[in-house]
Amino acid sequence: MMRALLICLVSYLATTNQAIFIKRCDLAKVLHEEEVEGLEGYTLSDWLCLASVESNFNLSKVNENADGSFDYGIFQINSHYWCNDFRSHSENICHMDCEDILSPTLLPSINCAKKIVSKTGGMKNWVEWRLHCAGRPLSYWMTGCHLG
Ligand SMILES: *[C@@H]1O[C@H](CO)[C@@H](O)[C@H](O)[C@H]1NC(C)=O
Repeated sequence: MMRALLICLVSYLATTNQAIFIKRCDLAKVLHEEEVEGLEGYTLSDWLCLASVESNFNLSKVNENADGSFDYGIFQINSHYWCNDFRSHSENICHMDCEDILSPTLLPSINCAKKIVSKTGGMKNWVEWRLHCAGRPLSYWMTGCHLG
């Protein structure tokens, strides 16, 4: 019985679109639990805006760059600097496989993003954040979200 269930589940996952999304307020909750607030002065709204403009909350997103590196996950973390995908040289500053960045728990992704924010002095490393989030009123990103 268990086995049949497992086989059903596996074939379901294999035959459907495997992209995993997270809802805005669910992400706010996870980020709050991981204590991102206050890191370099950024708010939860900054983080939500970052996830939105980078991946549209698609945890599975992988994107190839012109230079041959890849960006991974909800924060589109780059393989040349931060994680290793074994496809090209990586500084691997976060000491993790890029594959782990795609984990549905989000923890590797958040931990690496926190490292990027603290090591590079903020979110300006993310081009999309600079273009669409920096210096704008962002508090509406938290509308309707209850953390407790
Ligand atoms: C989510 O990301 C995956 C991997 O890049 C992609 O195949 C999929 O189309 C994306 N989903 C949406 C709805 O954008």
